[in-house]
Amino acid sequence: MSNFIQSDGFQRYMLAMQNRLASETGIKSVEAAEAERGLKLASALAASGIPKRFSSISMAGDEKEQEFNALMESVVKSKRGVFLYGKQGVGKSVMMAQMLKALAEKSPSVKYITAIDLVMEIQSRYSKTGESALDYIKKVRTVYALGIDDFSNECIQWTNDRKELMFALIDYREQNGLLTFMTSNKTTSMIEKLIGRSLASRLYGMMDEVELVGSDRRIQAGEKDNDNR
Ligand SMILES: Nc1ncnc2c1ncn2[C@@H]1O[C@H](COP(=O)(O)OP(=O)(O)OP(=O)(O)O)[C@@H](O)[C@H]1O
Ligand SMILES: [Mg+2]
Repeated sequence: MSNFIQSDGFQRYMLAMQNRLASETGIKSVEAAEAERGLKLASALAASGIPKRFSSISMAGDEKEQEFNALMESVVKSKRGVFLYGKQGVGKSVMMAQMLKALAEKSPSVKYITAIDLVMEIQSRYSKTGESALDYIKKVRTVYALGIDDFSNECIQWTNDRKELMFALIDYREQNGLLTFMTSNKTTSMIEKLIGRSLASRLYGMMDEVELVGSDRRIQAGEKDNDNR
């Protein structure tokens, strides 16, 4: 029964009823406003590409809750993104996904992508859709908050073409002061050697570099398959 009440279909039905009441009486109930907000957030999250296994986690009561709150406060105040680096399994992807999720409450224009998917999208774009890689980059680069997960490994394989497209993405976001997040096992200075000074300098310019420390939470969680990127 509780599953039925929590189901999307039932929630939508209740919202439709409340909206009808609101249009007849001119009064929107607190519940209707809340439900509408919940549905908007759910559809923003569905469109964001944030994997459910990251977005379904709650930071409330977690060992990194305070760190998360402090990061969010600084993002909102400084309007700068965060470059999260640290060892495998410390929770970088979850932290970034949670920040994007919190920002989705402000604007539905939030996108999560892994660096490897970004590279693959760029490579396979034309043959799949007829849209050029640059067209794709032009679409992605305008979102309000963009998170690129697991940045470093793919940089090594970057051709000049890929570097140019990445530049078109990063430069635009830096110029326009758009919130950008990245996670990596490497620091930006290690990455600088791989991607070059001009791209790295833009990364420094638009993100605060933060190290996430701790033990491998995959081992704690007993996850067998740690290749979850
Ligand atoms: N805040 C959290 N609450 C509960 N579990 C968490 C949290 N953060 C991380 N975990 C657990 O730890 C696992 C690893 O986290 P995550 O994928 O974010 O690590 P990572 O630092 O991105 O690792 P990698 O460098 O290998 O990509 C998650 O799949 C999840 O099971
Ligand atoms: Mg990760």
